[in-house]
Amino acid sequence: MTSLQPNPTGNERFNAEAANWDNNPSVQEATQMAFQTLQPTITALADQKRAATGASLDVLEVGCGTGLLTLRVAPLVKEIVAVDTAAGMIEMLTAKTRQPNAPRNIRPICQLLEDAEDPVLPPAAAAATSDDANPSSSSSPRRKFDLILSHLTMHHVPDLRPFLQTLLACLTPGGRVALTDFEDFGPEAIRFHPPTKLEGVERHGIPRGWIEELMTEVGFVEVRVWVGWTQDKNVEDWEDAERPTMPFPFLVCEGVRRLD
Ligand SMILES: C[S@@+](CC[C@H](N)C(=O)[O-])C[C@H]1O[C@@H](n2cnc3c(N)ncnc32)[C@H](O)[C@@H]1O
Repeated sequence: MTSLQPNPTGNERFNAEAANWDNNPSVQEATQMAFQTLQPTITALADQKRAATGASLDVLEVGCGTGLLTLRVAPLVKEIVAVDTAAGMIEMLTAKTRQPNAPRNIRPICQLLEDAEDPVLPPAAAAATSDDANPSSSSSPRRKFDLILSHLTMHHVPDLRPFLQTLLACLTPGGRVALTDFEDFGPEAIRFHPPTKLEGVERHGIPRGWIEELMTEVGFVEVRVWVGWTQDKNVEDWEDAERPTMPFPFLVCEGVRRLD
């Protein structure tokens, strides 16, 4: 199922960039590194759930873009609901899911997700048959997820507190978030984006101690924020740059929803 709605954040930048998004080698490299870093966690969680229930993981990805990470994760899980606020990005992902060899377990949705009971989300398993036909008319509970991923999106979100609260509410009890984004390691972190691409950037990376505290305040347990990888990026568009490339650490922000 694909749900296309007007982009409520008005972020034209990502609509304009969607068609060429995958041609950016730096974006491809960041996704590859995110996948390599997250794969052991995803596989371990999938194995655990399969052993306990016979089923695999229900995954939500927020800020999926054109689906670079989504398409890598899909073969490892039961289903991945892929949400993004930019209709252009979701159109690109939807086109990919229609290719003959694409995984069939991806649901692209264009939405600013602010409510875990948003009718654009699939219904909870028990109601799936009747509600799938017309999910937007349903007031039944929506699916909760074993794992929520979000890569390179948090630095675009104006207020991360309600964003994290929504993610927490979208998890099953015991479910986990694994959120990756570049670290705000100091003033030079601004150079992650070229000066021409600062539109829609709400913060120049994620400060490690700050996100750890915020996730704990919001109610996540087992919060762990760690450097997953470091990526060298070209910073030559900054005229005052002292070197052509700089290393940018990427954080993996993990947290768990308490068991009821
Ligand atoms: C830098 S791009 C990263 C896209 C993709 N994760 C990747 O690495 O290729 C950020 C994406 O987040 C989306 N986005 C921004 N704020 C969002 C929000 N609150 N909820 C969902 N998507 C959001 C943008 O539309 C954009 O596609």
